[in-house]
Amino acid sequence: MPTQPAFWDKVADKYDRRTVKGPNYAARLERAARWAGQDASVLDVGCAGGQITLDLAGRVRVVHGIDISPRLIEKAKQRLEEQGALNCTFAVMSADDPALPAGAFDAVTAYSLLHLVPDASATVRRFYELLRPGGRVIAEVPTTSDIGLHLRVLIKLMTLVGKAPVVKVYSQARYEQMFRDAGFVVDEVKVYNPKSMSRSLLATRPG
Ligand SMILES: C[S@@+](CC[C@H](N)C(=O)[O-])C[C@H]1O[C@@H](n2cnc3c(N)ncnc32)[C@H](O)[C@@H]1O
Repeated sequence: MPTQPAFWDKVADKYDRRTVKGPNYAARLERAARWAGQDASVLDVGCAGGQITLDLAGRVRVVHGIDISPRLIEKAKQRLEEQGALNCTFAVMSADDPALPAGAFDAVTAYSLLHLVPDASATVRRFYELLRPGGRVIAEVPTTSDIGLHLRVLIKLMTLVGKAPVVKVYSQARYEQMFRDAGFVVDEVKVYNPKSMSRSLLATRPG
């Protein structure tokens, strides 16, 4: 089984050709920007080729996209150069990287990430550390209600043959508990894009 960075590097070209702009994209983006605030410094964790990151850059003060896949960050940097956004950076990094300053961000975005990390509770706790008091998270993540048992078994088989990353799917209640245990207030969880097979979760680090 390839490691997460090796898996994402391997599929980077194909993955990056896929557009993330599904139904409700504009509304989802506006919602994320509103949630973060237009003066926000945002950390986009698991940014891949930076499509969402760059769209967010037009709506907030600054966005830093990080991803563990060097190949996808290369794509994000190419895209950045083409679009010429001055308030956006990209780096090969995981959220655990000690180089990220604690309490430095107004918002963390994590689109389709939390089911892919080895320990989602630890990643959620790390989001808390990275945010300033009053800072906000927007996470889109599939739950057991979005990905049924059959599909989860299929994904496991695909993982074994290197066709899917290691995926850990939890229930919505479990995700909400993870955020509460980390110290967040969970503000909202709902299906925002019916075709995304994900829940959108908004949470705040109390001020
Ligand atoms: C399903 S993709 C989502 C990409 C993008 N956020 C989107 O919604 O289109 C997940 C991304 O998370 C990255 N990733 C996985 N584990 C990570 C970690 N621990 N830290 C940062 N990025 C990670 C992968 O390399 C991949 O690019």
